[in-house]
Amino acid sequence: VHLIIADAEIELIPDELLKFPAVRATARRRGKKPSECLLDSSLHYSALRHLKDGGRRGRADITHFCLLLALDSIANRKGMLHTFVHTRNDLVMEFSPDVRLPKNYNRFAGLMEDVLVNGGVWSEGRQLISLKKESLKSLLERLGGRAYLLEEDGKQFSSFASLRDATVIIGGFPHGSFISDVGNMCRRISISGEKLMAWSAVSIVLARAFPAKLYF
Ligand SMILES: C[S@@+](CC[C@H](N)C(=O)[O-])C[C@H]1O[C@@H](n2cnc3c(N)ncnc32)[C@H](O)[C@@H]1O
Repeated sequence: VHLIIADAEIELIPDELLKFPAVRATARRRGKKPSECLLDSSLHYSALRHLKDGGRRGRADITHFCLLLALDSIANRKGMLHTFVHTRNDLVMEFSPDVRLPKNYNRFAGLMEDVLVNGGVWSEGRQLISLKKESLKSLLERLGGRAYLLEEDGKQFSSFASLRDATVIIGGFPHGSFISDVGNMCRRISISGEKLMAWSAVSIVLARAFPAKLYF
């Protein structure tokens, strides 16, 4: 499976908010420039009201949960998963299967700041997380093959085994719709009658797409 957490609400603090007191306070506490800190809805709630789509932005915690689940999955350990995060600003992060992410959110936020500021993370000369400017559409063209976009209102779907050699796109945002236009490049599917959080959608896909024999 190529797994893409798409339109993820993860970004550095945008220029319009750099002078807000809550933003400057976070930067001072962290010993960083405001422009090098992650936007965080729980810390920058009042400033976010002044931003377009402010009600859904600053949610790196959603991506954090999804990545912890994906990268620790049996499928990933067996080399059968390829994980990407595509952000609202059309930046694409690609994760090496053996990268170990911090379980603690504050440390994860620091790691994401390093990726967004320095263009990636390296260890002993090897790139563990890469970053490039790329739209969701262009990422899908690059990966090729069948793509499934998961959404609450999609077509009811239950043939999970067919996801195994395909691209699966899950929204990394708290509510609303995808902002990327992928035209008719994907089948739009629903995997439950319930509205799920993004990480629950990730866990259902990973648990159901792979056969039980993979586990032993
Ligand atoms: C919190 S939801 C966003 C809400 C959005 N209204 C939606 O269409 O699901 C985050 C992501 O979880 C996935 N998701 C949530 N419920 C789903 C469902 N019933 N079937 C398929 N995917 C779902 C979608 O990829 C969605 O973008």
